[in-house]
Amino acid sequence: MTLTRRSVLAGGAACLVAPWQWLGAASPVAPQAARGTAPAPDLVLTPGPATLQLAPPDYPATDVWAYNGAVPGPELRLKQGAEFSARLTNGLSQDTTIHWHGVRLPIGMDGVPGASQAPVQPGGSFDYHFTLRDAGTFWYHPHMASAEQVARGLSGPLIVEEADAPDIDADVTLVLDDWRMTETAQIHDSFGAFHDLSHAGRLGNYVTVNGRDDWTRAVHSGARLRLRLVNTATARVFRLRPRDMVLWVVALDGMPLETPQIMDELVLGPAQRIDVMADIQADPNGEALLASVERDASFVVAAFPTGPKARAAARPAPRALPPNALPALDLKRARKVALVMDGGAMRGLSSARYKGQQMDMRALATAGQFWAFNGQAGMSDAPLADVAVGETLRIGIENRTAFAHAQHLHGHHFRAVEAEGHLGPWRDTILVAQGETREIAFTAEEPGDWMFHCHMLSHQMAGMMTWIRVI
Ligand code: C2O
Ligand code: CU
Repeated sequence: MTLTRRSVLAGGAACLVAPWQWLGAASPVAPQAARGTAPAPDLVLTPGPATLQLAPPDYPATDVWAYNGAVPGPELRLKQGAEFSARLTNGLSQDTTIHWHGVRLPIGMDGVPGASQAPVQPGGSFDYHFTLRDAGTFWYHPHMASAEQVARGLSGPLIVEEADAPDIDADVTLVLDDWRMTETAQIHDSFGAFHDLSHAGRLGNYVTVNGRDDWTRAVHSGARLRLRLVNTATARVFRLRPRDMVLWVVALDGMPLETPQIMDELVLGPAQRIDVMADIQADPNGEALLASVERDASFVVAAFPTGPKARAAARPAPRALPPNALPALDLKRARKVALVMDGGAMRGLSSARYKGQQMDMRALATAGQFWAFNGQAGMSDAPLADVAVGETLRIGIENRTAFAHAQHLHGHHFRAVEAEGHLGPWRDTILVAQGETREIAFTAEEPGDWMFHCHMLSHQMAGMMTWIRVI
């Protein structure tokens, strides 16, 4: 299959047939607040096999793995400060866990087998309970065999609403995914193919938004939508451009910007989120579009056909969302550690440590390992750093590979340290381009062993992971 959605931009809107209809995501599921200590959760998430019409109607339905039979999984929507409580019951024929990506929580709820909890076996269950400290756009996915489990469809959005909703006409979650499909719209079972492991990851050939390739939402001309964009793809970096709408970026990876910023292009690496206020500029009976701009083509990811005008006057610039209370950074006293990324095609690893042994390139490749952090492929016995609660750590990341990597830190948000100590926005996942050097800083908050890994999940599988111990 190829990316089938109609091509766009530069006046390519000739073939528009978007109907006036509401094609929504799975309906929100709001678990009840936990009372006392850990009652049985009302919300149950069951990953298991399902068959869904992901491809256009002239293709067969696709066998996927899905939470509660839906792709993406149910949208979990709660208020900031609420107690979150969910039971995972494993309907797969292999072990799994759930990781709540970007959520600050105790290590025992982080979903990493080995560091946080035991794997949940087929038929088994595990209860997750934590307080939602931050408002924002988050998501959940398995943290076992994730290069396969996520790519087969296991992921869903977790939305935490601010106490006071911003002034908008609609709040819309757009989960972007990228599938590698066969000619009969089945998920290609080439998981762990060496070419993907050693190059840009498992890039797909079919893009969906909320599980569809023709996601459309009817809006009023002049409406302001809050779009919550989530990239659940395991490798694809989306570059999104608007047509006939203005995009104000208000939050990255769940954390509000101090000042909303108009952007002409949004770059969304794997696992990243962007919240934008989208002001629809298309006239009535027109259409605003969000398109993905690829090297070889661009295609529509979301269409907003317009009805009558929403209001007489346009809204003023959106206000910043209320900030979440993140721990301050102390750059001056911060300890510094270096993280050198090596490996991959075009820059092969000559040797690295793996499972306690120094190995040459051949032996590493045989073991499916193509990447290393500081000369170590896969998890090391010792952490990248030990930090005390309250201590700020600066990590210098040097990407010596020929590929971009989406580095994700569990349990904490960080800021990039730019020239002259200027700090970038808070994030939990940062794209580090090929050949680039970046520095990030965070203040340790929760004791535990927190993973720090590439969210191009084939890269993680092939060695790009480490961990930080907070004591
Ligand atoms: Cu979104 Cu370690 O993961
Ligand atoms: Cu990577």
